[in-house]
Amino acid sequence: MTPFFPLRQKPHSSPLKKGDLLVLFGELFSRGYANGLTEEAEKNGMTIVRATVGRRDRDLGLRALTDEEAASIPKPFINIPLEAGFDFEPDSEGISPVDRLKEIRLSDWESFQLSTQKWEESRARGRARFKENVAAYIAEVEKLWKPGQNIVFAHLMAGGVPRAKIVMPLMNRSFKGSGDRYLSSEKFWKSSIGQLCSMNFNEVTAETFRHLLEISTPFREKVQNSGGHVSYTAYGYHGTEVMIDDQYQWQTYTPYLQGWAKIKLEDISSEYFKKSVNCCVYNCPEILTNSSSIFQGVEVSLYPLLQAIEKEAPQSEKAKKILTECKGLLKEDCSFDDLKKYLNEYLTHPVIKQMNVYKEWPMHSTQEHLERMLNSSEEIVQMHKDAKNLITFVLSEVVFESCGYVMLHDSWSPKNSSAWIGHDLVAKCL
Ligand SMILES: NC(=O)c1ccc[n+]([C@@H]2O[C@H](COP(=O)([O-])OP(=O)(O)OC[C@H]3O[C@@H](n4cnc5c(N)ncnc54)[C@H](O)[C@@H]3O)[C@@H](O)[C@H]2O)c1
Repeated sequence: MTPFFPLRQKPHSSPLKKGDLLVLFGELFSRGYANGLTEEAEKNGMTIVRATVGRRDRDLGLRALTDEEAASIPKPFINIPLEAGFDFEPDSEGISPVDRLKEIRLSDWESFQLSTQKWEESRARGRARFKENVAAYIAEVEKLWKPGQNIVFAHLMAGGVPRAKIVMPLMNRSFKGSGDRYLSSEKFWKSSIGQLCSMNFNEVTAETFRHLLEISTPFREKVQNSGGHVSYTAYGYHGTEVMIDDQYQWQTYTPYLQGWAKIKLEDISSEYFKKSVNCCVYNCPEILTNSSSIFQGVEVSLYPLLQAIEKEAPQSEKAKKILTECKGLLKEDCSFDDLKKYLNEYLTHPVIKQMNVYKEWPMHSTQEHLERMLNSSEEIVQMHKDAKNLITFVLSEVVFESCGYVMLHDSWSPKNSSAWIGHDLVAKCL
């Protein structure tokens, strides 16, 4: 178990300077966490090297972006497809995991059984393809680098839901299903399809960091030998400290099925940190992004950031503006105090609290827990004037900006291989 290591103070600005490189390992999406890093790097005059996961056409082959697709991406941009995972990779019989799942009907998902041997064959091929592309990618970074420049590599990758038609409805039932539609995440996770998900999540979310660290080693040594500095950041999730009963307390989203892969990511970081590599997994708060929208209810624990902002940044003009903007999004008959009271009752409810056990993380959900979380998420949305204009949109930006600052500067010389950014630090960065 990774020891809980929260960062409490806003780090000092690092020696990163104009012309240094921030190299993205993963694609930058609007609303995504990495926007905070790129904004902070731009403020410091750094050059951002962008990447892509690539695209798949109808024939399902993985390809780089076309000139037209790449035209709007600011340069430098390395157009080598960095998609990880193996759901489309054929095994020794020429059949991919997605093909194997194609014919299964929703009613038969539980009885579907397959030895993991077949998944492992596809995994080996997917891994070989990915490593080859990473080597080509690092060679391109090397061409962009000039002696005297420092480098920050930013690992953004997470995901790996197998793209077979049967998977999403099952996951949706585990993450959003209530009443008869509820599916226990544990039951799903232990099935053959769940095992495939677990293996692919590990490939995308965790092992990609190992490949980056390993394949960039000769280049890292070259930069360091020339007097340059190299560091690596990765985005983790392992619960967050938020304000509960007027104190910062650790809590988590459940059922976070990516959690086991995130633990592996922390382990990989620890392995390289021990070899004196400047690397750190920053465990960041729950926000709304393209990737997190499947986890409905994850955003409920973002609202208490309002209290952290009030506590930590009472004099900040920026903080005052944020609070005023957020208040303006609530219905006239709903005050900030009403929202705070509601949140505190939710976060201290025994059904919710029972999931907040750090040493047991990640836990599977119960129907009672999931329904309470989903209902609360819905009720909080109803407190807003417009369900399409939520406080969490404003707060997500606050979080990714603060995390971008902390990660860019702290990673110059991280004190631990994994660190937590809680609501206290997010607010202090204002
Ligand atoms: N959103 C949250 O609440 C939250 C909380 C803590 C940590 N994080 C982490 O932040 C990071 C960025 O996520 P985000 O929420 O900003 O969403 P995002 O959708 O903007 O980013 C997801 C990233 O994963 C990459 N990716 C997806 N599938 C991939 C695959 N098969 N192969 C290679 N790369 C792939 C994408 O290119 C993208 O860079 C992730 O590691 C995520 O786990 C998110």
